[in-house]
Amino acid sequence: MTKDKFTGGDQRYLRDAQYRDPSRLTARADLHAKYGTADVRWFPWMAGQIEWPSDGVILEVGCGPGWLWSEAASQLPSGLRLMLTDLSAGMVDAALDRVSGLFEMTAGSEADAQLLPFCNRVFDVVVANHMLYHVPQPGLAVSEFARTLRPDGVLIAATVGPEHLRELWEIRSEVFEEEPVNRTAAVFGAITGLPIIQQGFSSVEWRAYEDHLHCTNPDAVIAFMTSTPPAEDASEQQLRSLHVAVRRRFEKGGGSFDIAKEVGIFVARDPYQ
Ligand SMILES: C[S@@+](CC[C@H](N)C(=O)[O-])C[C@H]1O[C@@H](n2cnc3c(N)ncnc32)[C@H](O)[C@@H]1O
Repeated sequence: MTKDKFTGGDQRYLRDAQYRDPSRLTARADLHAKYGTADVRWFPWMAGQIEWPSDGVILEVGCGPGWLWSEAASQLPSGLRLMLTDLSAGMVDAALDRVSGLFEMTAGSEADAQLLPFCNRVFDVVVANHMLYHVPQPGLAVSEFARTLRPDGVLIAATVGPEHLRELWEIRSEVFEEEPVNRTAAVFGAITGLPIIQQGFSSVEWRAYEDHLHCTNPDAVIAFMTSTPPAEDASEQQLRSLHVAVRRRFEKGGGSFDIAKEVGIFVARDPYQ
C-alpha cells in the first residue's frame, strides 16, 4: 500500500495541517537548498527548460509559497501574467506576498487541481510542481490541465523518481518498520506518472535534474524527516531511534551524509481537448 495521508491523499490534512503555511515545506526545501551540489539551482534550472511567451498567461497549480517565480524572476519575461493557485489559502497568501510586483500581473486563488475554476484553453503554460503525488485522482488533474491550456500550450510537472532520497527512505523503513519504498514516486513519479500525463497529452518527455545532497548537519535531516508522517507523529521512542539512525549515517561518513536525488520535470505538449 503506497498511499497515505501525505501521498495521494487526505486533502483536509494537506490543506489544514501539512500545507497550512510554508513552515514544514521550508524544512524540506532547506535541506536541498543548503546541501544540494548541482551547479544550477532547481528553480532557475526548471525555468530554463522552456521558452516562455513574453506576455504569456501562466497558471501554477499547487503553487506553495511561489518560490519558482521569485527565484527565477531575473530569467523570465517581466510581461508574464500569473495565476497562482493552491489547495491551501495559507500558501496562496504566502505566494502573493512573495511574487506580487515581480511580473506584469499576479493573481491568486484557492483551487483544487482536480476541478479548476477556469475556462477552456486560456493558459499558455500550466505548472504543477511536486504536487500531483498529493492529488487523490492525478488523472483528473491532468485532464484539467489539458482542458485549460491553449492548444499550443505546455505543461511542466515536476516530480521524483524511485531512487530519490533513497537513504532517507531506508532510515524511515528501519525506524518505522515500513517497506523501503519511495511512496511519492510510487503514487506519481518519473515512471508511474508518465502514463497518467499521457492520458492528457500526446507529446510527453522527462527531463532529469542532476543533483545529490552532501549533508553536513544531522539536524537538517531530522527537520526534513519530522516534517512529514510518519516521523511527524512519532512517539518519543521512535524519535530517539530516528536520531540514532541519522547519527549513525553521519558517523559512518566521517561527519557527512551523502543522499541520492532523482528529480526532474515532465514537459507535455499537444493536449487532448
Ligand atoms: C510539495 S508542495 C510544492 C509547492 C510548489 N509547487 C513548489 O514546488 O515549491 C505541494 C503543494 O501542492 C498543494 N496541493 C496539494 N494537493 C492539492 C490539490 N489537490 N490541488 C491544488 N494544490 C494542492 C499543497 O497545498 C502544497 O502547497
